[in-house]
Amino acid sequence: MLIAHLSDLHISAGAPETAPVRLDAPQMAARVVADLLALPQAPDAVLITGDVADGGSDADYALVRDILAPLPMPVFVVPGNHDKRGPMRAAFDSTIPYAAPDTLHFEAEVAGAHLLGLDSLIPGRVEGALDTAQLDWLEARLAVVQGPVFLLLHHPPFPTGNAHWDASALRQGGARLAALLEAHRTPLRLLCGHVHQAFHSQWAGHYAAVGGSPAFQYGFGFDGTEEPPLSDGPYAYWLHHRRADGSFGVHPRQVSLPPRGDLAP
Ligand SMILES: [Fe+2]
Repeated sequence: MLIAHLSDLHISAGAPETAPVRLDAPQMAARVVADLLALPQAPDAVLITGDVADGGSDADYALVRDILAPLPMPVFVVPGNHDKRGPMRAAFDSTIPYAAPDTLHFEAEVAGAHLLGLDSLIPGRVEGALDTAQLDWLEARLAVVQGPVFLLLHHPPFPTGNAHWDASALRQGGARLAALLEAHRTPLRLLCGHVHQAFHSQWAGHYAAVGGSPAFQYGFGFDGTEEPPLSDGPYAYWLHHRRADGSFGVHPRQVSLPPRGDLAP
């Protein structure tokens, strides 16, 4: 089993709405897609943990679909704060089995991996929340799933090491989510986005991670309270490899991106 974890593509058909997003973010996402296609072993699935589009228009998602179209494996997405539920559902309705009409959480199975996607979007807000209905749904699903579980959630429910990010992360539903995960005996893998800096962590007894972003990346902000400076550091996404003994290795796959140059800040 090989699962790729990407995040925060911020694809925009027009000018980006988000100030730090590089103007060529669609081309950078296409580079990542080309890299996925060039891997010596094709991933069984590609998981994208939110902010797939930057502004969330129908045209943005049409471009998202065009950019992801060359991928032959299933692609699963959860919404981030820059996504819009209506256009996003319309773009992925044919490939993602959404579990409810009003939110974009889903359950799927691919290559023996059990995928549970959560929707933490609060329209118009940067921070995120999980409502009771979704947490009830998650509790019911966790009670019956078997095998490796990948839990997708844009807003990290765990501390990021930077107060600025913690203030805009998951602000509602985190305590119950922690209780649900602590009660889940089988190790699962919690995949997040939002922070635009790739790192691993551990939370509620499970592996947790944030994917980076090919649209723009932040530098380190350890113990800070301000938004960290932007970084031109190398970009990498994660490859989760399930070995023959059932254990996982998480491998960074670096993709060479040109510097932002003199793009908007
Ligand atoms: Fe983002």
